[in-house]
Amino acid sequence: MKNNIVVIGSSNVDLIMKMDHLPEKGETVTDAEFMQVYGGKGANQAVAAARAGGRVAFVNCVGEDAYTPRMVENYRNDGIDTRFVFTERGMTSGHALVMIGDKGENYLSVDPGANYRLTPKRIDEAMPVIDDAAVIVMQYEIPEETIKYVIDYANKKTIPVLWNFAPARTFDLSYTSKINTLVVNELEAGYLAQMTIETEHDVEPTASKLLKGGIENVIITLGQNGAILVNGDETVRVPAFEVDAVDTTAAGDTFCGSFAVAYVEGKSFKEALRFASAASAICVTRMGAQPSVPKRKEIDLFLADR
Ligand code: RIB
Repeated sequence: MKNNIVVIGSSNVDLIMKMDHLPEKGETVTDAEFMQVYGGKGANQAVAAARAGGRVAFVNCVGEDAYTPRMVENYRNDGIDTRFVFTERGMTSGHALVMIGDKGENYLSVDPGANYRLTPKRIDEAMPVIDDAAVIVMQYEIPEETIKYVIDYANKKTIPVLWNFAPARTFDLSYTSKINTLVVNELEAGYLAQMTIETEHDVEPTASKLLKGGIENVIITLGQNGAILVNGDETVRVPAFEVDAVDTTAAGDTFCGSFAVAYVEGKSFKEALRFASAASAICVTRMGAQPSVPKRKEIDLFLADR
């Protein structure tokens, strides 16, 4: 049976400033702590899936800058198939500026760099690995035309698509009906459903609206209120694990990558949500994107303790 998880998406070099409070407009916060780590939603999800025990291939474009060889070597050290990580001549890799406040909350801004070179042509070149996928995992830091191209191809080949609509930005809504599993936070869910989630009573109606649009499984992550999955047969809720958060960067990515592993392993939705929530709870207790993504053993131990 195929069990390859193919992650198609972005990679970034993250430049982080951890500070005791996030600045107001025009304010300079001094005594911040600087860190440079590897991130990008696609790469974080590929790393999360690999560390959670998945067989992972990553399809991505990087630039030629000095940070990049080490970034790709790290993927290989995590056992990720990087045959289709393309180096774009004359480009820089994606970069993210991340400001983190004392409770782990953040501000982010991203220069996509080489990530926007992940075009349908590059996807065609990566077909050998895409054709072998048990599930395709994507986010939204690459061009819209590429997302649509992959969805159409996956539909034709009946390969399930797990799409994390993050960050939320304009998208051709006619395509959402072709997604098997959508993972979104409250804000992204509201954006796609054109509704606003203000209280917990708004969550299920928003998920139902997305389901009516044709998505098979809608997962909404609710931060400290856990996560919910809704499909035609069931509604599954799991509470969040209580931890001391220092940095929430990549928590959603860790959730998606580890959920994909549980999915290809055939776990029930309840078990899969619990597994993914545990992985993302561990992630928020550490600084940085990829350095904070847990390994399978840690997730299993964390769950065994609870
Ligand atoms: O989801 C977190 C990621 O978003 C960061 O690693 C940053 O690179 C941005 O892409």
